[in-house]
Amino acid sequence: MHPMLNIAVRAARTAGNVITRAFEQADKVEIESKGTNDFVTNVDIAAEQAIVETIRKSYPEHTIIGEETGQHEGSDNDFQWIIDPIDGTTNFVKGIPHFAVSIALKVKGKLDQAVIYDPIRGELFTASRGKGAQLNGFRIRVKQNKELTGAILATGFPFKKKQHMPAYMNMFQALFEKTSDMRRAGSAALDLAYVAAGRVDGFFEIGLKPWDTAAGELLVIEAGGLVTDFTGGHNHTKSGNIVASSPGLLKEILKDIRPHLGDALSK
Ligand code: IPD
Ligand code: CA
Ligand code: CA
Repeated sequence: MHPMLNIAVRAARTAGNVITRAFEQADKVEIESKGTNDFVTNVDIAAEQAIVETIRKSYPEHTIIGEETGQHEGSDNDFQWIIDPIDGTTNFVKGIPHFAVSIALKVKGKLDQAVIYDPIRGELFTASRGKGAQLNGFRIRVKQNKELTGAILATGFPFKKKQHMPAYMNMFQALFEKTSDMRRAGSAALDLAYVAAGRVDGFFEIGLKPWDTAAGELLVIEAGGLVTDFTGGHNHTKSGNIVASSPGLLKEILKDIRPHLGDALSK
């Protein structure tokens, strides 16, 4: 295993222990609102601190960007870690056992290492640039479906930006009419990991943040899939509008998304 992936795994497992311990003692979780339908708990912060500490111990010169504690500038900007300590905080807060730790490393702006860890199921998804993707050490691959018939797509609702609901509902309807079914499980990181593992055939969501998608993007690519924005371009890191699936199915998904974009989502 790449030494930096090894540290990412150690950090994810340490954070996972913090999270599962707290999940069993729900009365001790303190919840605060960050914005519309956007919550943070003392556990998100403790988990992120544990990750930052683990990375810092081995790589004090690297830069770290965490959802909850912001940017920890290092002397070496070529190495950038992107962290989501709990992806699926709403599930965590409600007692729904579906969330994950997401850690990615970019080297000179390119995704290089990725870990998504589901501490409840003990599922560890990993990827290293050019080396494929694994689940608990076993190779995983994106399902190479070319058509929507029979497909299951994962998605997320734009619950923080409800102004996008009309466009979203149009895309949803166009896709839903053709697919077998849809899933809205509440963790974009796990949605992407499930695309990589071939558990779902594709994923789309509006307005995600870099820490929601960085690790998942490398997993999907290393598992033989593609990740784009809603026009088939590569602005998803900025816009957060993201589609992931096999190359063949991605074309079909975009065909049903494109007619409903309007200016706000055409990137
Ligand atoms: C959220 C989850 C959710 C997605 C949201 C994200 P958080 O992350 O990934 O599935 O729909 O847009 O913000 O806030 O739980 O880290
Ligand atoms: Ca997230
Ligand atoms: Ca989070």
